[in-house]
Amino acid sequence: MNFIKQFFLHPTEVGSLIPSSKTLSKSIVSTSNLKTKKCVVELGTGNGVVTQEIIKNLPSEAIFFGIEINKKFVEETKKNCPNTNIYHGSAIDLKKYLKNNHFEYSDCIISELPWGAFNNKLQDELLEAIYNSLAKKGDFITISFAQSMLFSPSKRFSQLIKKKFDKVEKTPIIWKNFPPAFIYHCIK
Ligand SMILES: C[S@@+](CC[C@H](N)C(=O)[O-])C[C@H]1O[C@@H](n2cnc3c(N)ncnc32)[C@H](O)[C@@H]1O
Repeated sequence: MNFIKQFFLHPTEVGSLIPSSKTLSKSIVSTSNLKTKKCVVELGTGNGVVTQEIIKNLPSEAIFFGIEINKKFVEETKKNCPNTNIYHGSAIDLKKYLKNNHFEYSDCIISELPWGAFNNKLQDELLEAIYNSLAKKGDFITISFAQSMLFSPSKRFSQLIKKKFDKVEKTPIIWKNFPPAFIYHCIK
């Protein structure tokens, strides 16, 4: 219920009516190849549905933290994922949070940010912050709703990542999610 309420209060930040499904969450994590990672970051944790899957699959020696802009969601993620480091702030400040954890770069950035709801400036700034915080050969994993590809913000985002990253792959559409979604796997 809180998710829908937060959507109506902050539609362009939340970007979806309900959280990601378990199927989408598991696919995000399996696309991320977590086994070899040293510093994993999640952007836009919402109520922590993907966070729970990340934690389950994180190597024991790896560092993990999340960044979430909405205070209510920070509280929900912390409740659903006890003892997990979730910062209340913007993904724009990713570098600052990496430094707090004694890292200059992350080797895996997982984002559920609603790119299709962002304006051009915010897309550019957030993507720049992500790219500058990602290690060479690091993985950037992010989602897109299939129907949003009909609209220019999502088309623009797709072009941006193809220009910026060395390699961009897309999973097939995951139908067991509302709305159906796919995952981008980008390598720097
Ligand atoms: C589509 S929801 C995804 C929520 C959850 N991860 C899931 O998969 O169900 C997008 C999330 O990104 C958060 N968000 C939006 N802009 C953000 C920003 N600049 N920095 C951090 N989080 C942000 C929203 O508050 C929301 O929780």
